[in-house]
Amino acid sequence: MKYLEVCTENREETHVLGEKLGRAARENMVFLLEGDLGAGKTTLTQGIARGLGIRRNVTSPTFTILKVYQGRMPLYHIDAYRLEGMVQDLGFEELMEDDGLTVIEWSQFVSWLIPDEYLRVTITLLEDDRRRFVMEANGTQYEELLEEIA
Ligand SMILES: Nc1ncnc2c1ncn2[C@@H]1O[C@H](COP(=O)(O)OP(=O)(O)OP(=O)(O)O)[C@@H](O)[C@H]1O
Ligand SMILES: [Mg+2]
Repeated sequence: MKYLEVCTENREETHVLGEKLGRAARENMVFLLEGDLGAGKTTLTQGIARGLGIRRNVTSPTFTILKVYQGRMPLYHIDAYRLEGMVQDLGFEELMEDDGLTVIEWSQFVSWLIPDEYLRVTITLLEDDRRRFVMEANGTQYEELLEEIA
């Protein structure tokens, strides 16, 4: 399955979708989350963290670009928004040594971290609290992941 589209009606439903993604995630996977400010990228990541068995709350602090959370595997949560226009490699790879799941918001600002294969989740704001999530698998293991959560 190359594409999967899911709409959620509220924050909690987005947490449930994220939880499914987190449960199905395999080591060394990369999820790219696309969408405007307030689309729900961090909210989805909170669900993903839950699905990885992480108890700490996932937040978007003002100055932290990379946060590491420990669950059944590490979650590397990157919010690159504040890196817009910077081109240097910040040496994140050294902080991401263990096999884990990498979730990136605003991945266009950390293009050097994007591997050949990944899951792209594009989030669109609909009316009220509705959000559309279009998940695009780039690579066989991500196609299998979509089949698992569909
Ligand atoms: N269906 C929904 N799914 C996700 N969030 C929702 C939904 N309905 C309402 N919301 C609200 O929308 C906001 C989403 O904020 P969130 O921080 O997840 O967005 P973001 O895409 O990470 O934004 P940013 O680009 O600023 O990091 C939250 O306040 C959340 O409560
Ligand atoms: Mg965010």
